[in-house]
Amino acid sequence: MHNQRVKRATRTTGIALALLLGMAGAGTASADDDRGRVLFDLCKQCHGPDGGGMELSLAPSIAGLDAWYVESQLKMFKAGNRGMHADDLGGLRMYPMSLWLASDEDIAAVAKYVGSLPKAEPASTIEGGNAMAGKESYKVCINCHGAAGEGNQTMNSPPLVGLSDWYLKTTLEKFKSGVRGTNPKNPNEMLMRGMALSLTDDQAIKDVVAHIMTFRGN
Ligand code: HEC
Ligand code: HEC
Repeated sequence: MHNQRVKRATRTTGIALALLLGMAGAGTASADDDRGRVLFDLCKQCHGPDGGGMELSLAPSIAGLDAWYVESQLKMFKAGNRGMHADDLGGLRMYPMSLWLASDEDIAAVAKYVGSLPKAEPASTIEGGNAMAGKESYKVCINCHGAAGEGNQTMNSPPLVGLSDWYLKTTLEKFKSGVRGTNPKNPNEMLMRGMALSLTDDQAIKDVVAHIMTFRGN
């Protein structure tokens, strides 16, 4: 199933590249916008047609995610500094996709396009989280991610609002276990890993995720 997806993605890239070659005036603002839109066709296979995420593909919602963060992550994946842990199922799927983005210009164009999409509001999928308890443990997160999960570029901290709850949960688990956040070439991840260790058990993770899910619609 995974292979099929990769094959489909590969075919789409071929079409995307053919379209790109036919585009005149690369470098102008509107050509960059077009390029971002065309490149995004490749992402839809897993992240969904509107970038709202698909749990089956382990692909999180990315629509409306800040362009600076999308760009930084695509570069980290492409350099092999994110997603390469042997137990990082999601990361290992995303890594080869980042290699299709041939240049920094392509990365910037698709990141800008992703950032311009309306933010997704993926439905809750996790039960048993206590948002009130999570509010307490979220206090330590506010400095970097903001009181409403809006993110803070000066702290390299992405927005958390709009992410799928299953992705928040598995990501926090990955940080805790060291599947994400143990590569010295990715200092932002290492910093975040230290924070995830403050969430003592599975219930604490569910609670903080339940609190983050209350940020929607604000
Ligand atoms: C084969 C499926 C697949 C395709 C195609 C794909 N992705 Fe992903 N992507 C994933 C998965 C799975 C993850 C989750 C990685 C993880 O768990 O850390 C991911 C993660 C990401 C992230 C990190 C999100 C975050 O919150 O940190 C970004 C950004 C991203 N993808 C952008 C893209 C872009 C842009 C494209 C198109 C050029 C693309 N992806 C194509 C599967 C895919
Ligand atoms: C000292 C600053 C700091 C604090 C405090 C902090 N984080 Fe982070 N967090 C970061 C940074 C930086 C990243 C980006 C890591 C990267 O670039 O891969 C991040 C990434 C994340 C991600 C992954 C987002 C994604 O799209 O993949 C989640 C989820 C997260 N943090 C949740 C939390 C929670 C919950 C807390 C509180 C328990 C917290 N963070 C506290 C700095 C912080």
